[in-house]
Amino acid sequence: MAAQQVIVLLALASLAVASKPDCKELVKPLVLDSHSPIYGKWVLHVASWDDPGLKDDILSVNSSWLDVSASSESGVITIYWADRLNENKCLQGIANATISGMTSHTTYNINGHTSYHDGKYYETCSNCLLSEDTTLLPDGKSKGRYFFLFTRTGALEGSELETFKNQAECLKFPSEYHFTSKDLCPDGRATTSTGVKNTEKEQPEIEPNVQ
Ligand SMILES: *[C@@H]1O[C@H](CO)[C@@H](O)[C@H](O)[C@H]1NC(C)=O
Ligand SMILES: *[C@@H]1O[C@H](CO)[C@@H](O)[C@H](O)[C@H]1NC(C)=O
Repeated sequence: MAAQQVIVLLALASLAVASKPDCKELVKPLVLDSHSPIYGKWVLHVASWDDPGLKDDILSVNSSWLDVSASSESGVITIYWADRLNENKCLQGIANATISGMTSHTTYNINGHTSYHDGKYYETCSNCLLSEDTTLLPDGKSKGRYFFLFTRTGALEGSELETFKNQAECLKFPSEYHFTSKDLCPDGRATTSTGVKNTEKEQPEIEPNVQ
């Protein structure tokens, strides 16, 4: 009888293993260098988050896009971002990120407010950008993580979405997702500077994708 129980347990255990995503295979951090496939324009398709406190901020983002480029300084990349908020306002800015190994450290200055983000990038579909963004409080403590999947056009195959969900599960994100629209804000770089909103209406302080 005891032996039977063991066999049943073993069978259940192997079932559980079989149905679990292979996280080692699915979640491979990118070492960031000038050849990393992170450069160029990216349109956000879906976001996940792991802290309830981050939910309202991400839900207020209707669309988001980035332009990641190398800077003149080695180990520094430049991120231009433009978010459309649900009140139909565009918010945009430019930030420098310093790269060390597998992590990027970015300081965003938005309307005079500073926020800190540690980013990690992972292997993903071709023409996709997968990033895990930890928002840091001024004392260095984590406020929580976002998980973002960008693509070149904003479009994504169903199977690629399934992979994203499995990757999010591997990284212990709850299965809640925010799908963003492709109604992108215009590129404001020609006319405005860092952190300047290009609408006249007052709005709450919102960070790129987050608060
Ligand atoms: C974005 O805004 C459009 C137009 O107001 C709306 O139809 C759509 O549901 C919004 N999408 C998201 C993800 O907020
Ligand atoms: C980013 O770095 C470049 C080069 O060091 C500098 O000229 C620029 O002002 C920086 N931009 C921001 C937004 O900090």
